[in-house]
Amino acid sequence: MSKNDNLMEKIGSLCKRRGFIFQSSEIYGGLSNTWDYGPFGVELKNNVKSAWWKVNVHNRYDILGMDAAILMHPKVWEASGHVENFHDLKSDCKSCKKRFKVADLKDLKRCPECKGELTEARPFNLMFKTYQGPVEEAASLVYLRPETAQGMFVNFLNILDSKHPKLPFGIAQIGKAFRNEITPGNFTFRTREFEQMEIEYFVKPQDADKKLEEWIDYRFNWYLNLGIKENNLRKRPHAKDELAHYAKACTDIEYNFPFGWSELEGIANRADFDLKQHAKESGKDLQYFDDSTKDKFYPYIIEPSGGIDRSVLAFLVDAYYEEKVKDDIRVVLKLHKDLAPVKVAVLPLLKNRPEIVELAKKLAVDLKKGFVTVYDDTAAIGKLYRRQDEVGTFFCVTVDVQSLEDKQVTVRDRDTMKQDRVAIDRLKDYLSEKLNS
Ligand code: GAP
Repeated sequence: MSKNDNLMEKIGSLCKRRGFIFQSSEIYGGLSNTWDYGPFGVELKNNVKSAWWKVNVHNRYDILGMDAAILMHPKVWEASGHVENFHDLKSDCKSCKKRFKVADLKDLKRCPECKGELTEARPFNLMFKTYQGPVEEAASLVYLRPETAQGMFVNFLNILDSKHPKLPFGIAQIGKAFRNEITPGNFTFRTREFEQMEIEYFVKPQDADKKLEEWIDYRFNWYLNLGIKENNLRKRPHAKDELAHYAKACTDIEYNFPFGWSELEGIANRADFDLKQHAKESGKDLQYFDDSTKDKFYPYIIEPSGGIDRSVLAFLVDAYYEEKVKDDIRVVLKLHKDLAPVKVAVLPLLKNRPEIVELAKKLAVDLKKGFVTVYDDTAAIGKLYRRQDEVGTFFCVTVDVQSLEDKQVTVRDRDTMKQDRVAIDRLKDYLSEKLNS
């Protein structure tokens, strides 16, 4: 087994070849740094979201899910500090007109590409603006949200009044966010449109430090439990001078991407910044009333905030293998069973034998009721196996001549390539035991 150089290129090529991720608007030359998820990509992405929702919402009693709108009242972004603080410093090249993030520049005077003169550094707000209603006027200016978090803060009262949760409790949300990044890149790692998975966990102020540590471990283990190798994952506490304007403390979970260690998720202690700000700007009382002590106070907020697209990319990179099999190289995505876009492929050994094809198709239709299953008869069996390996299909079920006699099929394991002969009437139980355990 070996990992390779040029891994990002290989992942990009596999994603296009096998229908995971495509360049946006490709037939028009593409929109740079914008990506569309194809048939297997959307399955993988949905599986990542389900795995997150399951452990954070369905399996817990203290976290409630929600789905806020992307467009929010413009005052939200004044209260949150985004209008004032959410910017990067940038310089433009006077010759080639390219724009650079000052933090990425070694020489602040000369363009790194054409050596032309750079303009003075200026703040560049990262929020996307749009207009609500038919008239483009300042009064109707709205922003595409740069984080999903604010949708949860502004619904704090609604959640309290409708569900009456007691501290500590959380609100969880998955959704799109938009940032006009100056230097997007590294495939889907940094884009202008992306998806976040965020939890706002409300705690008593005196419990915040302890809860922050618990959440860092809990979120770190989530990636490990879904198959990321431990030596590719690390925790990196933020230095005081790199904290966001709202954060008291923050630790990033980083993945060892081919382009270097980079952030997958940040877990921050936002203290009472957000609730206090929204209370001040909206005039509403956003304090929590503790029945037992009769105290009224602003809870602190612990926020695990991850990116779906970045996780998907890390899962793809971590699962990618090239293995020597006889004189051939097999490319295989060893994705965790819960993430694999397809669980079972049914393949007829001979596509010119109608009885075999008929039995294989019947099996596929039947298995589809319990597992994500595909049927493929468009190539010879060796090629069909390779195709399924490349998309990470967990099991291949092959129907052959003997199956017609003994009512058994061959089940091939993706990772070991070991083959088991399984009776057709036991097949569902066999697959269930392995896939649903
Ligand atoms: N609410 C806090 C917040 O938004 P953040 O560190 O700015 O914190 C959280 O973003 C996560 O969102 C990041 O860890 C990353 O996974 C993802 N993310 C942020 N900007 C992104 C971008 N331009 N492209 C893809 N993912 C991004």
